[in-house]
Amino acid sequence: MTVDTLMTNKKSWDEAAPRFFGRNPLPEYGPLAPREDELNLFGDVSQLKVLEMGCGSGHSLQYLQQRHAGELWGIDLSSVQIETAKTLLSQANPQAKLFESPMELDPGLPHDYFDIVFSVFAIGWTTNLEKTLANVHRYLKQGGTFIFSWEHPLYNRIKNTEGVMTIEKSYLEEGPYVHEAWSQPAIMQQYKVSSYLNALINAGFQIEKVVEDVCKPDEIQEHHVNGWYSLEKAKVVPTTMIIKCKKPVEAGTFYPG
Ligand SMILES: C[S@@+](CC[C@H](N)C(=O)[O-])C[C@H]1O[C@@H](n2cnc3c(N)ncnc32)[C@H](O)[C@@H]1O
Repeated sequence: MTVDTLMTNKKSWDEAAPRFFGRNPLPEYGPLAPREDELNLFGDVSQLKVLEMGCGSGHSLQYLQQRHAGELWGIDLSSVQIETAKTLLSQANPQAKLFESPMELDPGLPHDYFDIVFSVFAIGWTTNLEKTLANVHRYLKQGGTFIFSWEHPLYNRIKNTEGVMTIEKSYLEEGPYVHEAWSQPAIMQQYKVSSYLNALINAGFQIEKVVEDVCKPDEIQEHHVNGWYSLEKAKVVPTTMIIKCKKPVEAGTFYPG
């Protein structure tokens, strides 16, 4: 875990939090991506214990609260985001448990506990994908589900210059990079799709679904489109990657659900 990177990102997120208030939360998975209403990856969440990694302003947790989730938990690096989420969720669900913590660390969350761990456009901030996935695996019950979305790893490799798409940087090059669309320094991590899939497999997950589609033209909303996410570019390269996987039930375990 790179402490300097986390400090830089925490500062940037504390400043950027108001701009991201309620931006693309569930049922959206990301800009110009298919929505949960269409994909139904979560299924019926009634009474389920759910945890969000990088919960931001808390709007995705609020959506699951409205779908009658049993327990809402979230962690986020930014103290401003956590305070915002606490305020948002305080009326409808004062029991929601929100922790200011990098997802690379376990702030003392219960293990073998959650039905669903999820993350909407936050996982690519982690400075240690392996540790983060090991934490997610530890928090989930056997048979529990992990769902996450992140910017498709090809998206920032392609540059759109007035409709002409060029490869900006090698898709094969992985590691930290400073995101050009951010005004403050913000360091994200680049991994290939195969690195995500292999990291999940190595952490013990069974992959159930991988989505790389773009949303249908009639579902496009104004707030999806900005300088970074353009319709023109989204016609040829996916903006978002969505992965659903499972922590398998160990053989010989009686597990009522
Ligand atoms: C684009 S926002 C996603 C917000 C939220 N998931 C939603 O649906 O509205 C990304 C979030 O990841 C958080 N974040 C960045 N790096 C993190 C880290 N290492 N550990 C935990 N959270 C992190 C940021 O503070 C920010 O709130």
